Amino acid sequence: MEQEKNVVQLLKSTPSTVAVSVNGWVRSFRSNRFIALNDGSTIKNIQCVVDFENFKETLLKKITVGAAIKVTGLLVESQGSGQQVEIQVSKIEILGEANPEEVKLTILQPKRHTLEKLREQAHLRIRTNTMSAVMRTRSKLAFAVHQYFQENGFYYMNTPIITGSDAEGAGEMFHVTSLDLKNPPLDENGEIDYKQDFFGKETNLTVSGQLEGETYAMGLGKIYTFGPTFRAENSNTSRHLAEFWMIEPEMAFYNLAQNMDLAEDFIKYVVNYALENCEDDLEFLENRLLQEEKAKPQNERSEMSLREKLSFITENNFKRVSYTEAIEILKNSKPNKKKKFKYLIEDWGADLQSEHERFLVEKHFKCPVILFDYPASIKAFYMRLNDDGKTVRAMDVLFPGIGEIVGGSQREERYDVLKEKIAAMGIDEKELWWYLDLRKFGTCVHSGFGLGFERLVQFVTGMTNIRDVIPYPRFPGHAEF
Ligand code: 4AD
Ligand code: MG
Repeated sequence: MEQEKNVVQLLKSTPSTVAVSVNGWVRSFRSNRFIALNDGSTIKNIQCVVDFENFKETLLKKITVGAAIKVTGLLVESQGSGQQVEIQVSKIEILGEANPEEVKLTILQPKRHTLEKLREQAHLRIRTNTMSAVMRTRSKLAFAVHQYFQENGFYYMNTPIITGSDAEGAGEMFHVTSLDLKNPPLDENGEIDYKQDFFGKETNLTVSGQLEGETYAMGLGKIYTFGPTFRAENSNTSRHLAEFWMIEPEMAFYNLAQNMDLAEDFIKYVVNYALENCEDDLEFLENRLLQEEKAKPQNERSEMSLREKLSFITENNFKRVSYTEAIEILKNSKPNKKKKFKYLIEDWGADLQSEHERFLVEKHFKCPVILFDYPASIKAFYMRLNDDGKTVRAMDVLFPGIGEIVGGSQREERYDVLKEKIAAMGIDEKELWWYLDLRKFGTCVHSGFGLGFERLVQFVTGMTNIRDVIPYPRFPGHAEF
């Protein structure tokens, strides 16, 4: 019996007299002799050499781009350049045909397709080199996230997807209901009567697991979540999705400085993990990026290659800068004075836009930046108020090319102050009774942050658009597949 192997195993094997078999999809079939077969286990293909004289014409005709086949033969030293080993084919089974005329109409057709085109056929795009490299890297990164927290004393916690609270207080929620929207029950005021809805109240998809995460940190000490979050914000940008995955660690007894230390250490760990474990894919993605950048004017091209950028992150300290310092830098910056920013920075208190964040990171400091102590007025209700009464212990980690990759804070642990902040922001206290309870029973200093997983994947893979780092992107007007 032959040994069944996948491509990545075969490419690491040495020639042997024991026959092997491999399943995969045909990437190309040259000169009726050379099949390039890919099975998703690696960016590389295995070359399968067919002596066409020994096979039926009808069979050979079915070895077409996109077809699923099983190849059996001997692994031998390759005669050609470009690979160490190849399969000398003795048997071919067609598992699933692919009609060449129809393949021509899809992105399986081997030629350069735009990323926009690939998105339209998102069910097939995983067969392309770019998407498979991105998705293998995404999977490795997810593993690294768990590994980091598990090795550092954190417990993995699953927060609810359906919730009655708006964790960020920004009102960007998708409603969840089982009411008949064409004929909803009404209350005495003529408004929809949610008491008759499935949960007996208004509910929505979670925008963040933080609040529930805090409750568990107050018993388990250190927890992290890693799950989908949903935001109905109408942002059609290359960095926003309506459905994205967030990692949210929450730690009892951590102050803001410890929170920043953790965020920096965590990011460096996962980026380094990708560097060490995704070599072939990163090499491919690095070249892809190089090609993409060739289309840009010289001054917009990156000075560093993809892997140099990743190493730069792991080897350098993130610069920690207060919001107040950042505003001074921005106010006096060239683009502000020359009115090049879309949103000019005039006064303390201004919310920072991505153009400002990127200026600080890419032009001014030229390294990742952690901004902290933001004005209370532009941040969420749960952040710890500083003694100055106007700033909160918030922190955002800003990355080159991405802008904000992490948002976090030390949490307001004082019952009275939190109650006041909830009221001041016009939030219904009754909705948060359980959250306030935490401040009554053994409250303590605690902190946490959220990292947008897709933004991390974007950074590591060098993909420009966030829609190309999640299998099926959800954004305004798009929920196909
Ligand atoms: O800054 P945000 O809104 O913070 C929170 O949700 C906190 N509850 C986190 C916490 O302290 N536990 O979001 C956190 C991160 C952002 O920095 C960004 O990386 C990502 O989530 N993010 C998005 N990613 C993709 N699409 C969107 N629409 C995103 N909104 C936020
Ligand atoms: Mg934020």
